[in-house]
Amino acid sequence: MSRTSTFATSLFLLAAAFVVAGCPKPPEPGDPIDGLTDEQRQMFEDGRPIFERTFNPETGLGPLFNAASCASCHAEEASGGAGAISEIHASEELPNGFCDPLADKGGPVYQQQVTQALRDALGIDSEPIPDGASQGTRTTPDVFGFGLLDAVPNETLLEMADPDDEDGDGISGRVGRFFDGRIARFGRKALIPTLAEFNEGAFQIEQGVTTPNVPDEGTVGGDPIPDGVDPLPEPEVTAEEVAAVDAFVRFLAPPARERVSGPAERGERLFGQIGCAACHVPTLRTGDNPVDALADKEVRAYTDLLLHDMGPELADICLGAATASEFRTEPLMGLRFMNRFLHDGRASSIEEAINLHGGEAERSRNAFQGLSPTDRRALMEFLNSL
Ligand code: HEC
Ligand code: HEC
Repeated sequence: MSRTSTFATSLFLLAAAFVVAGCPKPPEPGDPIDGLTDEQRQMFEDGRPIFERTFNPETGLGPLFNAASCASCHAEEASGGAGAISEIHASEELPNGFCDPLADKGGPVYQQQVTQALRDALGIDSEPIPDGASQGTRTTPDVFGFGLLDAVPNETLLEMADPDDEDGDGISGRVGRFFDGRIARFGRKALIPTLAEFNEGAFQIEQGVTTPNVPDEGTVGGDPIPDGVDPLPEPEVTAEEVAAVDAFVRFLAPPARERVSGPAERGERLFGQIGCAACHVPTLRTGDNPVDALADKEVRAYTDLLLHDMGPELADICLGAATASEFRTEPLMGLRFMNRFLHDGRASSIEEAINLHGGEAERSRNAFQGLSPTDRRALMEFLNSL
């Protein structure tokens, strides 16, 4: 027997041994988490085609929208992933310091597309953004593992927050808040409290598809939608369809780590030593949850879900509790699948994203820039394994 075929045989035996031992294979992007009941698994499978459904004006799309399906934005690697489409958010900081989300002028999300009926009625191609508003571009992030992030208790966020930097490490961290004061964690400005609200809201905000809890088409920059432009009765999807999409997103597995090499292990230690892990907290633990598969689990997401001041260079709009320069720590799980970085995609490599960290992250960025070439390679190997 040749050496290669001996090698091939032993690989085969090894693989067979794994199968016999029932060793679970790591999830691929788009797979559900382990441990779901048959009923939960069925909800996940029922939700996927609705997440992928392309709406048209006859089935509820518009009159204002950013894209025709969740999956046309959350597209890459699998449905639920990141994607190439960006959108525009806007707000205005008033002289008294209040952050106006421009809710009475169509904000804070300004849709970039309109149906033919609205174009014919108003002669516009996108929702007009009020003069004087600040604008921010938002790339489409992936949502793999976000059911676990939703299951992390609010108390954990409050424990990690250090708004007055009492420990003096230069890193504060504040909890995000919705307009009604509730603690929030979703979206780059940590504005939305729960995954369920984000998922349901996205139908109306991104696709112009109304739902039982968001039954209003909204306005065109504050003006009413002209009569006859969207004659379909609200809501345009049912509570069951919304619940299925919520289950699909909630049960998407976090991206599996790649096998970690020696240098990557050293890179992870350096990640802690130079202060990256102060914000990109490696592991969070979920609390009680009605879904067993989400209860009391570790999620290696590399985020604290808190807002941090990232300095003037990255600043764009205020929103909710976040000032213009504050952003929620972006989870780094799945980083190896990304091809553009930071909230507006301005960085085309991981190094570039780190070099653009300022504000609370300045000290850590400087430490990164001071690493020896070998250490820097080890850190990059670690980041590329996520
Ligand atoms: C036009 C593209 C687009 C469409 C369509 C879209 N999304 Fe998104 N999604 C985004 C962008 C951009 C963000 C980031 C928003 C932000 O940072 O504030 C986002 C964020 C999210 C988040 C929160 C992620 C985080 O980092 O906190 C969830 C959950 C989500 N989308 C679910 C959905 C669901 C469910 C649908 C369909 C009902 C949908 N999205 C449709 C572009 C889109
Ligand atoms: C003070 C908190 C803080 C520290 C310290 C910090 N980061 Fe970040 N990091 C953030 C925030 C907030 C974002 C999102 C910024 C944005 O979207 O503009 C981010 C984004 C990133 C991104 C881009 C992720 C993506 O998908 O867009 C990478 C990569 C990253 N950080 C790596 C690092 C590394 C490596 C270190 C250590 C050298 C570090 N960070 C230190 C808060 C921090």
